[in-house]
Formats: sequence, structure tokens, C-alpha cells
Amino acid sequence: MKPKALRKPLISGNWKMNFSHLEAINIVQKFSYGLGVSDPSRVDITLHPPFTALRSVQTVIDADDLPISLGAQDVHWEKSGAFTGEVSAEMLAKLNVSYVIVGHSERRQYFGETDEMVAKKAAAVHAFSMTPIVCVGETLEERDGGDTEGKVLGQLRAGLGLLDADQIARSVIAYEPIWAIGTGRTATPEDAQKVCASIRSAVAADHGAAAGASLRVQYGGSVKAANIEALMAQPDIDGALVGGASLDPAELADIVGRAASAR
Ligand code: PGA
Repeated sequence: MKPKALRKPLISGNWKMNFSHLEAINIVQKFSYGLGVSDPSRVDITLHPPFTALRSVQTVIDADDLPISLGAQDVHWEKSGAFTGEVSAEMLAKLNVSYVIVGHSERRQYFGETDEMVAKKAAAVHAFSMTPIVCVGETLEERDGGDTEGKVLGQLRAGLGLLDADQIARSVIAYEPIWAIGTGRTATPEDAQKVCASIRSAVAADHGAAAGASLRVQYGGSVKAANIEALMAQPDIDGALVGGASLDPAELADIVGRAASAR
């Protein structure tokens, strides 16, 4: 299996419903100053602002030639049409978005997103040559009931259900235990590793060793500068999807720097 060293770490900042486009510009600039002290070439970085700030953030990234890829937090699977309030993959691609989060637990929990919708979204993202970050994760009850793997691998198989092996190899999975999101409770690095390894093995079993070896698996849930190194030290964790801590540009730059030097 491809060694971890060949998978470039990916640190993604998920801003959720925070920052106007003006605030977003300010945060990106501060973040990029912070990056100056680390070696960003060793890690891929994505920022996922709300839709309303995508264009502004893209302009800053382009103007200053920043080592940051633009990301979105969601997408609709249809190309266009009467879907009030929705945004298509083509619209995102035209804005130079290259990564799109799909199936975040908040979308599943608050907006009724199903595995079937997640699969259609991941396929739409690939259809426009972008990379989906497919989120999976168990609730506390599922963990306590010993059903972590069942839940996570079920979401994984369903979410990747419309992709071929090449597309899967180029995808990103974010393992985010729901009980660790925004709670300050992180899975132990060993617990996170165990689930991330199961994800990789399941992909290898279903779609071939090459897909399993190339797929990047992020951990998400209360990631911060203080715990990123222990997570990155795990053989199957290739980066992090960072929520709360990504709202602080200095903290996010610190996370990136530590992730880069953990390699
Ligand atoms: P958190 O969020 O870092 O605030 O726990 C992670 C996420 O929801 O992606």
C-alpha cells in the first residue's frame, strides 16, 4: 500500500456560517501573513467560506498568489434549474473552487441530507473536476453502542456509491465523530486512527488497493494547534477539517505549520 509519505497532507478550514465577505478578506490576509513563518508547500490548504464570500476570497488568493485552494461548504447536484436557494457545481467551478465539503453532519442533522443526496453531490463535484470532501461520522450513542464502524462505513459506501475507482482515489474523506464537533472533545489520536484505517481498508477492499492507498483521510472534530501533531503522527490520518479553530487566522496558520513539519 502507498506509504503515507506520498499522500500530501490537507488542512481545510470550514468557516461554517461565519464572516461577511469583508471580514473574510481580512481573515485570509491575516492567515496568509501567519503562513509566512511555516512551509506551506508541504501541505495543501483549503478555505471554505460561506457562498457569499467565495468570490472575495478567490480574488485575494489570485491577487496575492496565495498557496491556498478555494473550497465550498456544500453544493447542489443538479446542473441548473428551479432549485431556489441552491448553488450548482458548475457555478462553484467557475469561481475557481477546487474542493467541496459534502455530507457534513450539520447538513445531515439540520437539513435532512441523506446518503443518497451526498452521493449525488460527490458525483456532481467530480463532474466539474473538483474534489469532494465527503464527511462521515458516528453519534455518541452509536459509539457507545459499539456501532462506530457500521455507521461510518455505511455512510462511506453510500457516499462514494456513484464514483468510479479513479474518482475515489482523488477524493477526500473527513472522519468527524459528531460528538467531537465543536464540543472541545477530540477523539484520541489512536481512536481516530482506528476509524481512518478502517475507512482506507474498506475503500481498498471495494475499489482496489490503489484507490485505498491514494485516498486522503482527514480527521475533524475540535482540532487545534495543540492536538494536530498527535493526529498527524497517525499512519492513516492525512490532515484535518477544522471548524472553530479556523476562525482564528493565527491559530489556523499554526495548525498548518505544525501539520507541515509533522511530515
Ligand atoms: P470543529 O468543527 O473543529 O469546530 O469541531 C469541525 C467541523 O465541523 O468540520
